[in-house]
Amino acid sequence: MKITPVILAAGQGTRMRSDIPKVLHPLMGRPMVWYAIQAVQEVSHERPVLITGHGGQAVRQAVGQAADFALQEPQLGTAHAVKQAEPLLRDSTDLVLVTCADMPLLTPDTLKQLVQAHLDQMEQDEQQTPVTLLTVKSADPRGFGRIIHNADGHVIAIVEENEATPEQLQINELNAGVYCFTSRWLWGALDRISLSSKGEYYLTDLASLAVEQGYRVQALVAADPDEAIGINTRLHLAEAETILRNRKNQALMLSGVTLIDPATTYIEGKVEIGRDTVIWPNTFLQGDTIIGESCIIGPNAIIRNTRIGDRSQVYASVLEEALIEEDVDIGPFAHLRSGAHLARGVHMGNFGEVKDSYLGPGTKMGHFSYVGNTTTGSKTNIGAGTITCNYDGERKHPTEIGEGVFIGSDTMLVAPLKIGDRARTGAGSVVTKDIPADSLAVGVPARVIKKFERRD
Ligand code: UD1
Ligand code: MG
Repeated sequence: MKITPVILAAGQGTRMRSDIPKVLHPLMGRPMVWYAIQAVQEVSHERPVLITGHGGQAVRQAVGQAADFALQEPQLGTAHAVKQAEPLLRDSTDLVLVTCADMPLLTPDTLKQLVQAHLDQMEQDEQQTPVTLLTVKSADPRGFGRIIHNADGHVIAIVEENEATPEQLQINELNAGVYCFTSRWLWGALDRISLSSKGEYYLTDLASLAVEQGYRVQALVAADPDEAIGINTRLHLAEAETILRNRKNQALMLSGVTLIDPATTYIEGKVEIGRDTVIWPNTFLQGDTIIGESCIIGPNAIIRNTRIGDRSQVYASVLEEALIEEDVDIGPFAHLRSGAHLARGVHMGNFGEVKDSYLGPGTKMGHFSYVGNTTTGSKTNIGAGTITCNYDGERKHPTEIGEGVFIGSDTMLVAPLKIGDRARTGAGSVVTKDIPADSLAVGVPARVIKKFERRD
């Protein structure tokens, strides 16, 4: 049985009041349309057909290979939108699963249930039920179409809110806008829909049409009405973000992560966290961030596209595109920028900034420092106030610091520069020339005044 998803995404989204196409607005760090694609991918291996219109080019670019596309131009309603998939699907699929790109809360499980309900019904009475639709029961109608049943309890129509009678408006079973159709019936039926009073072809008219043709329409009530929340305004966007955030937080907690206060913990969809890690409040974990086991993160941490090894701690700091190995402790008030790589056991205290640099195992950088375009060996001490002067106004230059080095407080390291193993600098030195291993350099500009005996 071949099931092909069709995702509607051509609507203008006027109520978002935005220059960005509605379905590209981000939720938990991913564009809204990603959720619809992800959900149908779990139901069918067939590539979905995405119906685009407004902002179509940007949407196609964002989605890439994940879907085939059909352009709806002009946009004459939801039935007209589905119709655009006909040339691609007419004789090549058994079922058509229609969903909307602005319903990010819809879960793959619900879609699977909808398809299964349709298949079960087909088995029972071959071809008698050409459509199974998803409904929700909710006291908040949100402008949704109302589901009309006859005295036997069978669905006989869907009435749009603007066309409903006062009695019909009281109905609390609502159309989610998600349908499973038997393909063979669908395409012919779409041609029979007439123009609504609003000048659109309504997909919802297929319900009464099927009944008129002597078929049955099946409804599946979704267990969680939140799943049907469609995004029409920025209020809905915030509502969906909160629900998605809760889902993510709950999944993490159930997998063994402690969130001290889930309500003030903002973890995007792609983030992975190992068990027994504790996340303190007001922490933002974003993008491709992966955190190991038994870490302590926050409070007040902002961590983006960063990997953190087991047993590391990040306290009130900002980390972007960094790589942190095991047993590292950072903060408060540290800033790691792209290309910062802190090896196992590094200690980085307050008011430090590291960019495009490697700090070797056990290296300490306790207070007020900038380290950029630098590699540091193991067990080196970067004294308070050390600055790598890596930029001459035109270009960046590298600094190489060996292992077991002691950089005295307030040292300026004017790059390009090499500091040998176990070398030391005096407080306030301005180092403009390489320092050999096992040597002490002091002054402005720094000169070597002593050679150490090597003690291993
Ligand atoms: C639709 C349903 C309504 C249901 C609600 C659930 C119809 C007529 N009504 O109403 O019963 O309760 O969804 O959210 O179907 N779209 C296109 N091309 C168009 C028009 C719309 O692709 O010409 C897309 C939109 O981008 C959107 C989806 O179809 O993803 C639904 O359209 P929308 O205008 O939001 O329909 P509703 O008024 O919400
Ligand atoms: Mg809508």
